[in-house]
Parts: sequence; structure tokens; C-alpha cells
Amino acid sequence: MPLPLIAVFDAYGTLFDVHSAVRRVAGSAGANAGRVSALWRDKQLEYSWTRSLMGRYADFWQVTEDALDYALSTCKVDDTKLRGALLTAYRTLDPYPDVRAALTGYHDLGVRTAVFSNATPSMLHDALVSAGLDEIVDTTFSTDTLRRYKPAPEVYAQACKAFSVKPETIVFHSSNAWDAAGAASFGWRTFWINRTHGAPEYTWADFNECSSLDAVLARVSAVKQTP
Ligand code: LAC
Repeated sequence: MPLPLIAVFDAYGTLFDVHSAVRRVAGSAGANAGRVSALWRDKQLEYSWTRSLMGRYADFWQVTEDALDYALSTCKVDDTKLRGALLTAYRTLDPYPDVRAALTGYHDLGVRTAVFSNATPSMLHDALVSAGLDEIVDTTFSTDTLRRYKPAPEVYAQACKAFSVKPETIVFHSSNAWDAAGAASFGWRTFWINRTHGAPEYTWADFNECSSLDAVLARVSAVKQTP
């Protein structure tokens, strides 16, 4: 199996910990902090899928705001200052501890790196700069260009075009099993980074499972050693 030409990473949940925003301001979020964070993420994804299916696009920042409003309202948190603080924190989420080593590891193998995300270009810019990763990511592609979200096949197709590569030369990493299934269905070599040790799902899709980015890099590097 040849080395990939490009290592592509999903952003939220894969590079960046979406729960770090609520964690940072947990003191003000009260006893419901964990529930707010989980609902925020679940609704953010749901709204991205439903808007795509209905042809009612709004960008990922709007979807993120709408999802937070639902989460706060469900948990009976009525606090404008907290809402603002959470949204500010969401622009600068914490990266997972294995991210930097994975990105530099791919560079050391001579493999380009890219981020492929639903997030708007400005969200991606802020997240990468604040995490100090902008210098080690070669390129980014936002589905915003297409006004459609993952896992619509056309967004994976357009990403290939943007990266100027064929599907089979990509290695993709996503902690979102549904995104891993979308990429694998499109012919990308895909690893589901099962960070939460979730139960198997999308088992009909042809992707591999690893618990961290280090583990994937070790598998890809081993390929290089094979004559
Ligand atoms: C992204 C979402 C799916 O970054 O997490 O595209």
C-alpha cells in the first residue's frame, strides 16, 4: 500500500475538543454544564444535516449559534454574558494532545496535511491560529464554498479537487463516525478516531478504527517501511 499524498483531518472533535469551550467557562454554566455542551454539539450537527437536506443553508457559525441557543434554553440558562463567553471560547477551542505530533509526523514522512471541515474559513483560521497549528497545516478546505455540509458526496468530491488529488491518495481522519462513513463511501482511505470509545457504528462503511491520531500515524508509517 503506497504512502498517501495528503493527510486530511476533520476539525471539530478530531483536532479540536468541542467541549473545551464549556469547560473553560464551566463555573458560570452551573450544574448543567455537561448537558449544555453535549446538546450544543448534537444540535449543531443536526442543524447542519437538516439545513443541507432542506436546501436552507446557513453557515456553520450561524448553525453553532442556533444550537447554543437551543442548548441554553433547554437547560433553562438565561445569561447573555455567558452566551457571549461560550461563543468566544468556541473560536479558540483546545486542540487534542496528539494533534501536533500527528501533523509534524506526516510532514516528516513527506505527506502534505489539510483540514477539511464544515466550519467557515474564519472559524478555521481562528481555531488554527489560537492552537498554534496554522504553520503546520498546509491547506484548509471549508464546505462553505458549496453551501452544503458533510456527509453530502459532493463536498468530498470538491475537497479532492481543492487538494488536487485522487480519492485513493488521501488518508482521512475523523472522530465523527458518520463523517468517516461519508469519506470512506467516497473512496478515501479513512480512519475513525474513536476518541470517546463509542460503540461500533456505520459498520457497513469501509473505514478503519483507531483510538488516537498517534495510532494512525504509526500504521501509516509502518507502510513506508514495507518494501
Ligand atoms: C467538522 C465537523 C463535522 O469540523 O466536526 O466538519
